[in-house]
Amino acid sequence: MKRAICIGIVMAVIIVATVSFAMMGKDVSLPKDWRSFIHAKSMVIPDKSHDLYGFHHIYVNKKGLDILKKGGKYPEGTIFIGAFYDVITEQDGSIHQGKKLFYVYMKKDKSAADTGGWRYAAFDADGKYLKKDVKKECYGCHAAVKDSDYIFTKFIE
Ligand code: HEC
Repeated sequence: MKRAICIGIVMAVIIVATVSFAMMGKDVSLPKDWRSFIHAKSMVIPDKSHDLYGFHHIYVNKKGLDILKKGGKYPEGTIFIGAFYDVITEQDGSIHQGKKLFYVYMKKDKSAADTGGWRYAAFDADGKYLKKDVKKECYGCHAAVKDSDYIFTKFIE
């Protein structure tokens, strides 16, 4: 009897671990069509020692556009992509977008309750998933803009 309970517990732990692992990886891949999302804005942080160094372009899919423009809570399935590039400063003072560095990703997903209802992810320049402690490394900073549903970007016409 005890043995059966033990086996039962072990099985339950394995199932829970498998399901949680599957949830973690759920849907987290760089959308193939991200480049056809709507460009919301760009920003350049030329200081290499800054956490957010790079030439950034921020994109939103159609689902989130309306709220990005007028404010409020984003609908399920909204996706934001930030594409980061190197900053090349020429002698003539012009600033160019260099090679791609990485991507950041947020998808509105109510199952990601412990990170404010957004699923966070990062991908390398080739679109390969980068393992991160998203609660600490992403949500920790985005929590500062809870009032705009954790989104920093303001749409620029
Ligand atoms: C130091 C604070 C900070 C950290 C840490 C951070 N972000 Fe951001 N994030 C920002 C800021 C500021 C912007 C706006 C950047 C811009 O306008 O170019 C931004 C923009 C974004 C956007 C576009 C939507 C928006 O909020 O404007 C996504 C997607 C994103 N970050 C995902 C991530 C992910 C994923 C991580 C973790 C790997 C992360 N961020 C870590 C501050 C941070």
